[in-house]
Amino acid sequence: MLTRCAEIVGRLGQNGEVSREELVLLLENIGDDALLEELRKNAQQTAQAVFGNKIYIRGLIEISSVCKNDCYYCGIRRSNKNAVRYRLSREQILACCENGYALGFRTFVLQGGEDGYFTDEVLCGIVSEIRFRYPDCAITLSLGERSRESYRRLLEAGANRYLLRHETADERHYARLHPPELTLEHRKECLYALRELGYQTGAGFMVGSPYQTVGNLADDLLFIRELQPQMCGIGPFIPHHDTPFRDFAAGSLRMTLMLLSIIRLMNPRILLPATTALGTIAPKGRELGVLHGANVVMPNLSPMEHRKDYSLYDNKLCTGDEAAECIRCLSGRMKTIGYEIVTDRGDYK
Ligand code: 5AD
Ligand code: FES
Repeated sequence: MLTRCAEIVGRLGQNGEVSREELVLLLENIGDDALLEELRKNAQQTAQAVFGNKIYIRGLIEISSVCKNDCYYCGIRRSNKNAVRYRLSREQILACCENGYALGFRTFVLQGGEDGYFTDEVLCGIVSEIRFRYPDCAITLSLGERSRESYRRLLEAGANRYLLRHETADERHYARLHPPELTLEHRKECLYALRELGYQTGAGFMVGSPYQTVGNLADDLLFIRELQPQMCGIGPFIPHHDTPFRDFAAGSLRMTLMLLSIIRLMNPRILLPATTALGTIAPKGRELGVLHGANVVMPNLSPMEHRKDYSLYDNKLCTGDEAAECIRCLSGRMKTIGYEIVTDRGDYK
């Protein structure tokens, strides 16, 4: 390992300022096994100092595969005529929560495409009912860009958290992943509004998305440092066969793990999921994520019959088992590496 890299890693973990150039240097040394292991060891130690060997679970409910956006990477983009569209009813969503609650989930994540059916009125009705039935649970929304007023009303209805990945912190790169009507500027406005309104906010990005450079990734890390979100979702880009990016390579396991470790070291208390996408590109992806500093997993609580249709990328995990099966499987997996799944809400502390 270069002495310079060793010194930067040391500083990362001690709340030390690191420059963009220094982050680029670390990322360029992705081939260095000793560097990766040093980052991993420090990141795991940092996560354990804050969270012990506990892993939080979030129950993911994919409420709609209808989306008005046309992001070039995403399998449920509006131009994908082969995508099967579904939308869960209020009753189906509440049934997922009921099932999830019985299984021990205390956080529900309602995720979906930007589906015009879910107006503020419809969504607030659902959120306030979940809030009424499960006063001890956290309600997380992940429904894309909405107005500040909409975010305010949803918060008032009882939502606590909002996930909105920034996808890439570089304007030009953003424009290569999205059609012109979607801008990084607006995405950031949403994130700042969410944070200011009082949501526990999650940002995040894909690793190895088409045209991404190490400079872009350094900017993602700096953006996370600036925004200081309570959560950060990162996972490898995985091509979907019905999108313009079908022929691009998937992001690498190694780079995703390196970034998880760097994010943990730069943001010791952040809630950092070992994502489904990470579990999809490698058989032990999520376990490796935890060993590199992640502390959250998000099993799927969506109704079985729709899981295959919330297909953001190819070969997505958890399209065959039951939610209960999913938790057992995940608990077992975490146990093999010395971690324990816990059912408390796991708020940012
Ligand atoms: N590969 C990996 N992640 C993807 N997402 C969407 N499409 C893909 C893909 N092809 C991620 C985006 C989005 C989240 C819901 O899923 O980062 O924010
Ligand atoms: Fe879903 Fe293992 S986590 S089956």
